[in-house]
Order: sequence, then C-alpha cells, then structure tokens
Amino acid sequence: MVSNRPRLIYLVGFMGAGKSSVGASLSKALNWPFIDLDTTIEAGQGLTIRQIFEQAGEPFFRSVERAALAEIIKAEPAVLALGGGTFAQPPNVELISARGGPTVWLECSPDELYRRCQGITNRPLFRDRASFDQLLQQRLAYYQLADYRISTEGHSADEVAEQILGLQLF
Ligand code: S3P
Repeated sequence: MVSNRPRLIYLVGFMGAGKSSVGASLSKALNWPFIDLDTTIEAGQGLTIRQIFEQAGEPFFRSVERAALAEIIKAEPAVLALGGGTFAQPPNVELISARGGPTVWLECSPDELYRRCQGITNRPLFRDRASFDQLLQQRLAYYQLADYRISTEGHSADEVAEQILGLQLF
C-alpha cells in the first residue's frame, strides 16, 4: 500500500525544549533535511531574532514567522523545528493542520527549561523567571494540541529522536 501521508514532522515546544537539537538528531536518523524556523527567519531578514525584536517588535516578528512557516512547510521530506511561540499562534496551527504531518510536543519541566535557557542571549522573550513561567502557562493549551508528547527531561537529543522514531509515524 502506498501511503500518502506527508513525510514531514513538526517539533513544537517552549524555549529550551530541545526542538533544534532533537530536530538535528532526528533528521540525521531519518536522512531527511532539517529546517529550523528561527534560522530560516534570521537568514531571510539578515538579522538575529533578538535584532528583529529590538528593531521591529514582536508583531513584526510574528508576521515574518508566519510567512517563513508557510514557506518551510512546502518542503518534503523534512524535519521542522518551530520557534517556541510558533505553535501558540492560531493561524500557524491552522496552516500546519491544513498541510498535514504529525506534530510532536517536546515537553520539559519549567525548572529545566529555565536552566537550559540561562546564558543564551538570542532569546528576547527570556527575561525573569516570573515572566518565563507566565508565558509557559499561556502556551500549554496550544502545545497540548500537538499529536504527540515526548518528555525531553533528562534525555539526550539522540534519545528523544529515538523515542520519536519509536512512534512509527512514517
Ligand atoms: C520565541 C522563541 C524563540 C524564537 C523567538 C520567540 C517564543 O525560539 O522564535 O525568540 O515566542 O517563545 P526558541 O524556542 O527556539 O528559543
């Protein structure tokens, strides 16, 4: 039987969840191209994510993010790592569900997410612990819309990629 399911997988989750590192590992294992949405946006704008936020603000970033998402979902096969806020924007969720392909939420405790984000300066929405926790709380309902949920807590990127492969999605 020939499957017509898209050979496309989306990694969603908060900052520090491991989307980029797991995505790189999964793409290697599947031998599929890896596309990181933030990296695509930076290349397209010729600016870092922080510079885009500082120079043009978050609403502009979100519109550029949506346009970049609409482009990268055309790729196939591909492992796509979204930004932490991408899947928390309803129009993006619609774009993804219209395109098809499984969404995987990389879940992790707030303490561990916070620990992983410390010292990384290219995350304009990473400020103090209170706002970090608040943003995470606001996003959970969206992340829960993902088709699958995998914990990255205490696991290497390769281990998480193995678990995703174990879902036998393709
Ligand atoms: C954001 C997360 C970042 C990046 C931008 C906004 C967010 O991606 O897209 O700074 O809204 O949570 P990472 O999750 O890869 O850090």
